[in-house]
Amino acid sequence: GLPARVRIHEVGPRDGLQNEKTAVPTDVKAEFIRRLVAAGLTTVEATSFVHPKWVPQLADAEDLFPQVRDLPVRLPVLVPNERGLDRALTLGAREVAVFASATESFAKANLNRTVDEALAMFAPVVTRAAEAGLKVRGYLSMCFGDPWEGPVPIEQVVRVTKALADMGCDELSLGDTIGVATPGHVKALLTALNEAGVPTSRIAVHFHDTYGQALANAYAALEHGVTVFDASAGGLGGCPYAKSATGNLATEDLVWMLRGLGIETGVDLAALTATSGWMADHLGRPSPSRTVRALSHK
Ligand code: HMG
Ligand code: MG
Repeated sequence: GLPARVRIHEVGPRDGLQNEKTAVPTDVKAEFIRRLVAAGLTTVEATSFVHPKWVPQLADAEDLFPQVRDLPVRLPVLVPNERGLDRALTLGAREVAVFASATESFAKANLNRTVDEALAMFAPVVTRAAEAGLKVRGYLSMCFGDPWEGPVPIEQVVRVTKALADMGCDELSLGDTIGVATPGHVKALLTALNEAGVPTSRIAVHFHDTYGQALANAYAALEHGVTVFDASAGGLGGCPYAKSATGNLATEDLVWMLRGLGIETGVDLAALTATSGWMADHLGRPSPSRTVRALSHK
């Protein structure tokens, strides 16, 4: 049967805001994170310690993180290399994430590295983070399709996921960065990973709603036994180095489905919807989430 409870890994403040045309003020980001925590989210990805020229929207990480670091939740941050890890450790981060790609094209566009060069860059980051007692997540982008390369072979995804797992990443987040996955493909990938020795308990899924499949894919993963789901409040975000990526799965849409299934998330849907409405007002455009729109017009 389905799990009684799942954990939502909220990526709005990081994945959601990294793609905004105009940078959101640091105080607004801090307030966004506080509101998400108040709405019951227990893991909120706060920001990235990447090169500020590559992602100027998150260049304020040093100012933002101290404003939120004492919140009583998990606050992972992205770090691409040892320089990023040093910045995160200096500020007292307790959880970090590295982010690999299943395809060469996206590794080049996102990290200026080949897939294997990127893995070599992450290895000392994961080792040092684990030694410092931090939890480490390994993201894998382009697990289903790639804007330059088309469909991505499952063996290719398995190879890089296993490399991240063997390196010591506690959790592996499978990203459908451009939102092309469908439920059968999701099940096939999860099955192949299990057969390669990666247990479902270490896997999280990260869907985008480009083709309207994000919830169907989440349900397929749920049936397979996945209990960690990435989502973005109000459906914010895409990816700055993958043009065709639109909208992460909206946290509200996910919570609505899970609530209907009787699966506990700890999230207060009214408080979360109000938060996404507040952020949409700030950004000057409505949330693309159907659930946010439906609940806002009640
Ligand atoms: P590079 O240009 O190859 O960097 O970029 P480098 O290693 O050659 O270093 C060049 C200079 O940058 C050096 O300074 C470094 O110190 C500095 P110099 O010596 O020339 O004065 N530098 C840094 N400064 C601050 N913080 C750092 C840092 N690193 C180097 N961490 C690099 C390589 C990885 C740095 C760059 O490509 C980068 O920052 N990429 C990040 C891109 C990114 O954040 N993308 C979005 C996240 S991924 C995503 O959204 C997908 C996901 O959501 C899942 C999904 O949906 O699929 C996770
Ligand atoms: Mg994403």
